[in-house]
Amino acid sequence: MARVYNFSAGPAVMPEEVLKEAAAEMLDYNGTGMSVMEMSHRSKVYQNIIDEAEKDLRELMNIPDNYKVLFIQGGGHVQFAMVPMNLMKNGVADYIITGQWAKKAWQEAKKYGEANVIASSADETFSYIPDCSDLDVDENADYVYICLNNTIYGTVFHTLPDTKGKDLVADISSCFLSEPLDVSKFGILWGGVQKNVGPAGLAIAIVREDLIRSDLDEKIPTMLRYDTYANSGSLYNTPPTYNIYMCGKVFKWLKKQGGLEAMKKRNEEKAALLYDFLDSSKMFHGTVRKCDRSLMNIPFVTDSDELNALFVKEAEAAGFVNLKGHRSVGGMRASLYNAMPIEGVKALVAFMKEFEQKYTK
Ligand SMILES: Cc1ncc(COP(=O)(O)O)c(C=O)c1O
Repeated sequence: MARVYNFSAGPAVMPEEVLKEAAAEMLDYNGTGMSVMEMSHRSKVYQNIIDEAEKDLRELMNIPDNYKVLFIQGGGHVQFAMVPMNLMKNGVADYIITGQWAKKAWQEAKKYGEANVIASSADETFSYIPDCSDLDVDENADYVYICLNNTIYGTVFHTLPDTKGKDLVADISSCFLSEPLDVSKFGILWGGVQKNVGPAGLAIAIVREDLIRSDLDEKIPTMLRYDTYANSGSLYNTPPTYNIYMCGKVFKWLKKQGGLEAMKKRNEEKAALLYDFLDSSKMFHGTVRKCDRSLMNIPFVTDSDELNALFVKEAEAAGFVNLKGHRSVGGMRASLYNAMPIEGVKALVAFMKEFEQKYTK
C-alpha cells in the first residue's frame, strides 16, 4: 500500500528512511542475530545504542556539559508531575498558560504546591502568546513554566518570557529539534518524543545539573526522581529500549539533513507555503495571531462546520490524513513536523486550492 501524507499532531510521521532502516534491522541488528527489541539493556551493544543517541542529541542541540540528558518513560504527562516534584523546593511555581498542555501541567503542579498563573491567553481561546516582558513573578518561585510550542492551538513563543532571574522550564514536545534552541536559557527542557523524534511513551529531559536534587522528599517514587535517571545513565530499570533506538536513528537522520539550522530553513519553507495560501484564500483562514504562528502545527478553518467536515473527508480520500483539528477546537490542523516532506505540503496546498474552486459558488 502506498504511504499517505500524514499530518497528525502525534504520534506523527517518521522519516521514511528511518523506518526502512529499522525494518531492515528488525530480525538482525548489526550481526547480533536479534532485534533491538529482544536485546538486554545491559548488553554492550545496547549501551552503544543509548550512548550514541545521547551523543548525537548533544551535538544536534549543542547541549552544554552541565546539562544531563535523561530518557524517561511515560511521555509528557509524567513530566507534568516530575517537574514540580523535583523542582519545588520553596513549594511555589509560576505557570504561563497558553493552551491545554500548559494548563494540564499547571493543574498537576497544584497537587504539589502553590502554582500561580502569571499570564494566560485563555481569554481568546489561546490564539496568541501573551506579553511576557514584565510578569509578576513570585519572588519565591522555584521556576517559571511554559509550553514553548502549543500543539493544539498552533502558537509558539518567538520571544522567551522574562523570568526575572528564575529558572525557565519548557515543554518542547511539539517543536523538539525543529530549529536551534539556546539550551543555556533553560533550567529544564523536556519533550515527549512522539511528534518530531520517535515512538510515543518516551520523554527526553535536558536538565541543568544543579536542578537534579538528591535531597528530595523520600516519599517521591524512585522512578519519578530526575536523580535516579541521572545517576544511572537512564538505565536504572529497563528503559523503553526500542523507542530510544528509534530516536537515535532520527538523530542520525537529522545530522545527515544538515542539523537544526537546515531543519529550520526547511520548516520555514514548508510553513510559508501553507500560511501564504491561508492568507490569500477566501475560503480557508488561519486561526492564530500572525506574529505568534507555529512552524509545526497550523490550525485553519472555513466559515462553516459542514465545509470543514467535507474538507477533512475529501482530503482523507485523496491521501491527506489526520487533518481534523483537535477535538477541543474543531476545524482543521496540519502538523508539519521535520519528517513531513515539502512535497506533502505542496500537494496539500494544491488540493486546498482545488477544493476552494470546487465549492465556491
Ligand atoms: C506540547 C505537548 N505537551 C504534552 C503532551 C502530552 O504528552 P503525552 O501524551 O505523551 O503525555 C502533548 C501531547 O500531545 C503535547 O503536544
